[in-house]
Amino acid sequence: MKLLVTGGAGFIASNYIRHILSTYPDYHIINLDKLTYAGNLENLKDIETSDRYTFIKGDICDGELLRETEFDAIINFAAESHVDRSILDAQPFLQTNVMGTCSLLEIARQRGCTFLHVSTDEVYGSTTEGAFNEASPLLPNSPYAASKASSDLLVRSYVETHNLKAMITRCSNNYGPYQFPEKLIPLVIINALNRNPIPVYGDGMNVRDWIHVTDHCRAVDAVFHNGTTGGIYNIGSRNERQNIEIVNLILSIVAEKFHVEEKVLTNLISYVRDRKGHDRRYAIDPSRIEQEIGWKPDINFEDGIEKTIEWYISNKQWWQRILSGDYMTYYNTQYGERLKT
Ligand code: NAD
Ligand code: TYD
Repeated sequence: MKLLVTGGAGFIASNYIRHILSTYPDYHIINLDKLTYAGNLENLKDIETSDRYTFIKGDICDGELLRETEFDAIINFAAESHVDRSILDAQPFLQTNVMGTCSLLEIARQRGCTFLHVSTDEVYGSTTEGAFNEASPLLPNSPYAASKASSDLLVRSYVETHNLKAMITRCSNNYGPYQFPEKLIPLVIINALNRNPIPVYGDGMNVRDWIHVTDHCRAVDAVFHNGTTGGIYNIGSRNERQNIEIVNLILSIVAEKFHVEEKVLTNLISYVRDRKGHDRRYAIDPSRIEQEIGWKPDINFEDGIEKTIEWYISNKQWWQRILSGDYMTYYNTQYGERLKT
């Protein structure tokens, strides 16, 4: 099986590639990634020399490149993924998330290959009661969420019109190793370690439903193997938390590990102006994937967050190279040299 994984240098897909290579000895992964600011090939340092792994630097919007590339199935993770950036400039979100998905659907249609589209619970908007199921209406509030909802509808149209074997997964907020430090959890960990201010938007009481990235990767793989054509699967681990609760939990773990008074760290919390259109609450009902596919989450949040903090403490160089911008030179030094020989 030659699997085209898009956005493989990002947070979730780099974890996914590692999971697939260690689970299936006969799988070959082709990682197609544009290497935007969020793409970091250092996420895959440990597997980059595997003879079952190929990296292609390129854009999912590039139809010609897709036609030149051989593969049997597509797992589409590539996206502009940060809500705050989509508020500043929505255009790249539409380009990659909508037009890029369209190019991938087109090549999948021509080849007749399976297409798994990785989407998000944010397409459902915000809720005050209960949890989103797959029949909940699409009511995206941010440009990011609107671009993902648009791509989901495009996938649906290829199933209905062309009978494409496509599936959609909609996962809640992920955390774990290799998450880019613009997102809440790595930002709080790193700022706590560096004793920098920790920005909390609004009143800090917005709720997100957190899942460990490894549980998400296992779920995507389970849907790839056992999902039905046109199927939509919510992924979540019934773990709702207020942002301020997460921040305090991280600070208490860091304080304990470094034997510092918790107050020293909680003093870093800085309530800042709220995000525009800030969704109040996400909550996912994962009953369908549990009942129909037999997937369930393995990682309990308290264990997962502690291991994640330990990972960021042990991998200081990884995030320091992001903060300094040095990670962006990795492709040229590693791959540039290799391409020359
Ligand atoms: P990320 O921002 O860490 O990584 C995105 C990757 O896509 C980067 O490597 C980037 O270089 C690449 N990319 C961007 N534009 C591209 C293009 N035009 N062509 C090729 N590659 C391109 O994102 P992430 O957090 O790992 O999210 C991955 C996917 O999962 C996204 O589709 C996102 O919507 C979805 N998702 C994320 C979460 C979450 O909590 N992070 C939750 C649910 C769903
Ligand atoms: P984020 O990690 O950006 O994910 P998303 O917006 O896709 O849910 O943010 C998670 C929550 O944390 C969200 O409610 C916004 C909030 N937040 C802060 O309070 N401060 C921050 O610095 C960031 C990045 C997020």
